[in-house]
Amino acid sequence: MRSGKADMADKKKMSVAEMIAAARKADSGGGEADDQPNKTDSSEAEAPAKVSQGSAPSKSVPKPGEAGRPSVAEMLAMARGEKSGAEKAAPKKAAEKKPAAKKPAAAKAATPSKPAEPRDTASILAAARKPSKAGPMSKAEAAAKEKANPKKEKPKIVVPPMPQKPAYAIAPPAPKNSSKKGAGEETRRGFLAEGFTFLGAALLLWTVATVKFMFPNVLREPPSKFKVGLPDEFPPGQVNTKYKAQFAVWISNGEYNGQQQIYALRSVCTHLGCTPNWLEAEQKFKCPCHGSGFYKDGVNFEGPAPRPLERYAIRVAEDGQIEIDKNQLFFEEKGEWDNPSCFIPV
Ligand code: FES
Repeated sequence: MRSGKADMADKKKMSVAEMIAAARKADSGGGEADDQPNKTDSSEAEAPAKVSQGSAPSKSVPKPGEAGRPSVAEMLAMARGEKSGAEKAAPKKAAEKKPAAKKPAAAKAATPSKPAEPRDTASILAAARKPSKAGPMSKAEAAAKEKANPKKEKPKIVVPPMPQKPAYAIAPPAPKNSSKKGAGEETRRGFLAEGFTFLGAALLLWTVATVKFMFPNVLREPPSKFKVGLPDEFPPGQVNTKYKAQFAVWISNGEYNGQQQIYALRSVCTHLGCTPNWLEAEQKFKCPCHGSGFYKDGVNFEGPAPRPLERYAIRVAEDGQIEIDKNQLFFEEKGEWDNPSCFIPV
């Protein structure tokens, strides 16, 4: 029978769990551990299983120090010291050896047998090409992952309701007929109506301008010859102003050089061309521009007018009416008033 220290020396290469199991065995029975130091893995795996089941140690366990055996605490301390030393010395070797040699049997039995690693080059490359590494996922993969591991539901944020709008901020409801499309249609129709109105006005103006172009402006003067009625319509001593506005002529029945006659006087002042007025109360023609005055027969007597008024040719036409011809003028200063063409004797 070997001592506990010798056993621990033999079990240098054992794991901590194995050492603990062996130590507890040794503490409980002693004989079994010593008698069978090289038990198979299955017997070694039974020890931690028993420990995990909480089997109480037997009451016949010798006290520490008895029969030269170390206590459990001492063995643990020794195992830990050895392990740390071994790890410091050869961490790589321990890491390589641990999973293969010192794995407990129970753990080995629990883990399913893995398929044999690929050995040929093609299988190694295929294994390397497998998307085993974590990396960017497709949407489908992300959805599947999320389905497999559903996230915890986020706590719902309770949003307080918005305060109610005041009455003045609420827009009145739109009338039923005034839709957006209807408003656009109305605007389009308005533009069309305005466009057609302007087009019609332009066409009308163009037509008027064309007609006016076809019929140019003509200065329509009164005829130079016109009839004023029968001689009886002009009583003696009267000045007829009826044709002054239209023909610029007075028709008088007066006396000139002791002879009663009807004559036509031109209503143009001989000073600067103003139009004198007949003043019935004063029985004279008075120019409003510079105050020239003329008698009823047309002779000037006051004001700046240098000479008498002028006479038109006058005659009795075939129909008996008095006809005046404005194409002929007769000047008193030239002695032309004696010409029978410029008066009708009464
Ligand atoms: Fe008649 Fe001068 S124009 S008085």
